[in-house]
Amino acid sequence: MLSRFDFPPGFLFGAATAAYQIEGTRFGGCGPSHWDSFAATPGNVVRAEDGAVTCDHYHRWPQDLDLLKAANMDAYRFSTSWTRVMPDGRTVNPEGLAFYDRLVDGMLERGLKPFQTLYHWDLPSALADLGGWTNRDVASWFADYAEAITRKIGDRVETVATINEPWCVAWLSHFMGIHAPGHRDIRSAARAMHHVLLAHGTAMERLRGMGQQNLGIVLNFDHTDAATDAPADVAAAALWDGIFNRWFIEGITKGTYPEQVLAGLAPHMPANWQDDMGTIGQPLDWLGVNYYTRHTVAHAPGTPWPAIRDLPGTLPKTQMGWEIYPDGLQSFLTRMERDYVGNLPLYVTENGMANADQLTDGAVTDQIREDYLFAHLAATKRAIEAGANVKGFFYWSLLDNYEWAEGYEKRFGLVHVDFTSLERTPKSSYHALARALARND
Ligand code: FCB
Repeated sequence: MLSRFDFPPGFLFGAATAAYQIEGTRFGGCGPSHWDSFAATPGNVVRAEDGAVTCDHYHRWPQDLDLLKAANMDAYRFSTSWTRVMPDGRTVNPEGLAFYDRLVDGMLERGLKPFQTLYHWDLPSALADLGGWTNRDVASWFADYAEAITRKIGDRVETVATINEPWCVAWLSHFMGIHAPGHRDIRSAARAMHHVLLAHGTAMERLRGMGQQNLGIVLNFDHTDAATDAPADVAAAALWDGIFNRWFIEGITKGTYPEQVLAGLAPHMPANWQDDMGTIGQPLDWLGVNYYTRHTVAHAPGTPWPAIRDLPGTLPKTQMGWEIYPDGLQSFLTRMERDYVGNLPLYVTENGMANADQLTDGAVTDQIREDYLFAHLAATKRAIEAGANVKGFFYWSLLDNYEWAEGYEKRFGLVHVDFTSLERTPKSSYHALARALARND
């Protein structure tokens, strides 16, 4: 069994969460976001559930930070909510700032390094009304929000990530329609694919101008295999890899978007998008890699661009139906180092699995999650041995929480949450990780 001593000195272990998924939007003057209206629209979210209360982390945060500390963790990846800080998207809510001020101090008191994410998907409704990610002005709105929260807590956070998973913000939400705002429109999608990076770059410039350090972004990657060796399937896999895995990192590090993706999106891109690539290409101080699974894709004859279909793979799957494939994490970490960022610090900012956990006699035994977690830690270690400069690993998630379109149905936590009593119960995977992270073996 791996322990912290199998990793380089100073390697950070932590867990991740996001504001909308755990805090509860009913409290503290938080404004409405596009997730509230998306969830209130029939058919979008399991049982039309939303984040109004969720884990009530807004009130129970001291207990949740205690759980991180008791698991011997070094760091906590959390997000600040745009709607809590600016309920109408532009006007600062002092109660919201005060909440994050307390939260960050609470982390430091417990010896936890704060890893902040600025945007984990809770776009204020007032800005959604103006077109949200399809409106180019989102870049300056986002930089204003970034500046306001950074003025309050920037002196104490260890790192700042601009955007969590731009692919989900743009493609999943504006082309596939699976996340808020639920658009299925190639023009909206092309705009969001570009504006999300423009917002990233604009906020990087603004924060760096304020002297803020350790600025990065969190990208998600899915290992992609072609269903067969047929040239059409191989091309479909390459196109999917371009849309999912290459678009954002190449926009940032190479100043260009992948050719075969532009072949489909160019007619729908905002005018003169090329002029923004300098802003988008602000140097990163670190890169976050989220990794969960593998995709097997094939050409979908007779359908419009991108003409790709997803096939169920053959590997064991999690409760999400996602295949378990730890080698993919190793290969993305080495690919980032080799093709894009060289020796830049990398963090695994999310990795974890959903499981149909059962609370029995006050305990949850989730051996399968323990196996998943340690297999991905081993993959991370192999990537480090192969030369990737990986500095930390965050499990998704600390708590069972609001899993977006899946509502409260899918449990990713190291800690079980009863969504009626809001009682927290650490699972066996939590205890296994705490043992592995003990500092004085
Ligand atoms: C990621 C999200 C996170 C959570 C996990 C399961 O895509 O960043 O909020 O939903 O997936």
